[in-house]
Amino acid sequence: MAIMEYFTPTHVYFGVGAEDQVGEVLKSYGAIKVLVHFGSGSVRRTGLLDDIEEKLRDAGIEYVELGGVVPNPRVSLVRKGIKLYESEGCDFILAVGGGSVLDSAKAIGYGVYGGGDVWDFYCGKRKVEGTAPVGCVLTLSATGSEMSDSSVITNDETDPTYKRGVNTDFGRVKFAMLDPMLTATVSKYQTACGATDIMMHTLERYFHQGYALDFTDELSFTLLKEVMKWAPVALGNPEDYDARANLMWCGSLSHNGLMAAGNSNKGDWACHQIEHELSAEYDVAHGAGLAAIWGSWARYVLEVDPSRFVKLGEGVFGESDPVKTIEKFEEFFRSIDMPTDIKGLGLNFDEAACRTAALGVTFQNARKIGNFKVLDTEDIFNVYMMASGLK
Ligand code: NZQ
Ligand code: ZN
Repeated sequence: MAIMEYFTPTHVYFGVGAEDQVGEVLKSYGAIKVLVHFGSGSVRRTGLLDDIEEKLRDAGIEYVELGGVVPNPRVSLVRKGIKLYESEGCDFILAVGGGSVLDSAKAIGYGVYGGGDVWDFYCGKRKVEGTAPVGCVLTLSATGSEMSDSSVITNDETDPTYKRGVNTDFGRVKFAMLDPMLTATVSKYQTACGATDIMMHTLERYFHQGYALDFTDELSFTLLKEVMKWAPVALGNPEDYDARANLMWCGSLSHNGLMAAGNSNKGDWACHQIEHELSAEYDVAHGAGLAAIWGSWARYVLEVDPSRFVKLGEGVFGESDPVKTIEKFEEFFRSIDMPTDIKGLGLNFDEAACRTAALGVTFQNARKIGNFKVLDTEDIFNVYMMASGLK
């Protein structure tokens, strides 16, 4: 039996002006009417939306717009998108934006195909069995959603709000147009959040129990070093093509499965679960939340297998002391103005908040998370306490 599967069917168009082909490419999929999905305004301000719609008109493709996706995208807009897609007789969804727009587009695709309550797919009640076709023009290097099998949606109709992800190969979009210069207008803060998220998708995969392919470890170290090299350049000069291009491609490869290829499992992912609870409840930016948690998680799990930290430190920093390696990652996060504790997110967590959040992560003790070290509610509480400076 195979120890892993590697499936990345997304057709990637990479380079300046990659999005110019959008009309022709959509036509090649037989698209007649497209739902153009976007965020809260950046694509209007930059003129990208106008350009894309012009390309659609040139190709004789009809379209209908649905904007308004917010970071930590909401199920309420997904429902609106499903209705609009159906009432307008659309046959393709084009996401123009960052990870939130992509994830919302994927959710609309599942809802259109599967009918019923789209939230069922996210809370685990039903399995995704198909999707309406989705393609994207990416404007932010971060989540890797443009090649990943994942979509993460926040339920804003419940109290407390829930943020849940669904992983399925139906989430691999048909095509991704990656023009690095479209990310030149991303704010410094979102650029730094994105760089952190890219690094975390590789770190999460690196830390796991079981077999690790050396080649994949080495690829991981290269990816981490590249992000740490180019993120500061992009922050210093947002228009730097090399910086934007390297970050963009690292973002896609960090989360398309390559960084776990040959390994005996898909990684730890505890930090993502611990972070998602923060962005669900407090609407913090995903990348910043990860930076705030990672060091505390790393210290908490270090003893499970220090040799994994030694290899990482040697590969990335030429550093064989595991504790110093953790500190070096944190120094990097701080150097790009990312927080390395919960306070840095603007949140004042006390013991009760740590307890509530930990119970949220485990769905009130109904599950454990992690693979490098399996964490229960008490463990997660300890990580939140450490990240809050209370332990
Ligand atoms: O909404 P607009 O106006 O477009 O502004 C966005 C938003 O405010 C802005 N932005 C995007 N491109 C821009 C730009 N501003 C100027 N110029 C541009 N070119 O950036 C802000 C953040 O956008 P968002 O899409 O929310 O960021 P990101 O790409 O980091 O996505 C975060 C979401 O993805 C989820 C996260 O949890 C979070 O909900 N994730 C999705 C994953 C996946 N599907 O594989 C994996 C990740 O681990 C993550 O969980
Ligand atoms: Zn992430």
